[in-house]
Amino acid sequence: MNASESHQPPDRNLALELVRVTEAAALAAAPLVGMGEKEGADQAAVDGMRHMLHSVRMDGVVVIGEGEKDEAPMLYNGEHIGDGSPPDVDIAVDPLEGTALAANGMPSALAVIALSGRGTMFDPGPCVYMEKMAGSPEIADLLDLDRPLAETVKLVAERKSCAISDVMVVVLDRPRHEDGIAAIRAAGARVRLIPHGDVSAALLAVTERSPVDLLWGIGGTPEGVISAAAVKCLGGQLLGRLWPRDDAEREAAVAAGYDLHRVLTRDDLVAGEDVFFSATGVTDGDVLLGVRYPSAGGATTESLVTRSRSGTIRRILATHDRAKLRAFGGGRY
Ligand code: FBP
Repeated sequence: MNASESHQPPDRNLALELVRVTEAAALAAAPLVGMGEKEGADQAAVDGMRHMLHSVRMDGVVVIGEGEKDEAPMLYNGEHIGDGSPPDVDIAVDPLEGTALAANGMPSALAVIALSGRGTMFDPGPCVYMEKMAGSPEIADLLDLDRPLAETVKLVAERKSCAISDVMVVVLDRPRHEDGIAAIRAAGARVRLIPHGDVSAALLAVTERSPVDLLWGIGGTPEGVISAAAVKCLGGQLLGRLWPRDDAEREAAVAAGYDLHRVLTRDDLVAGEDVFFSATGVTDGDVLLGVRYPSAGGATTESLVTRSRSGTIRRILATHDRAKLRAFGGGRY
């Protein structure tokens, strides 16, 4: 066999179809940015995403969706999407990651989706939250959920040959993080507090030459799985550990067979070897520009589109004609 025969021919990159899906969600949510309507913005994003998702040829099952069928009539966990043709995939969606950010016109709201082979995405079951830590390839081996944060930020500074006071850790601004934030600051490192949006924060943390070195803290499990898919494609590491909110959740998780001590790596959270990820900015942020309206009938979007197997990372700037989209999109834009 010669060298060319040993390689697979180029195949379909589903991420290039998924970008239309996240663009549709972002464009649908954008008119509601700053309108103070979390539910309305989320619903618009769900509608936009689902409408376009049907155009993707696949046999998909929603593993990370909008919730249980009763509460979420669309994109609910377990819903089958696509025309049933190959490939068989698990789907993780967050049509509007950072609903409050979008509703309040604040930075870093995203529309996101990830796809991976059937049965390869971690189902968090009853657990709503997980502890998370994420960082770029340069510091991937230093991540540790059990080591004191003060030691970890010191190791990060040594690895990056910088002063500890140069290290920046992004953390969701929540009372549950008070001790951790104090420990990071006492060690001499800095903290970037964010009101919401730890998927965007994870994307920033794994990016080289980013203003942020590390993501740490307890956030949503769905966002953890979606972030892990992105990190698999972009490089770097994300660790997660389920964090039950109360005894009832703990007991439900243990009864369902979850090991609450287990540290999950990005490969445990998304085990597939061919992972596709797309994110489109809804509001401007460090990672992506949001939807903009440069002219009366136009809109622009920026998306991050990537695939783990090839490692290709694309940034797609798109110009949209809202009147034309409305004509065949059913008034969503
Ligand atoms: P939503 O888009 O569902 O509002 O989630 C936003 C978010 O900030 C996530 O990025 C994060 O993982 C989670 O909520 C944190 O949950 P909580 O606000 O309950 O602390």
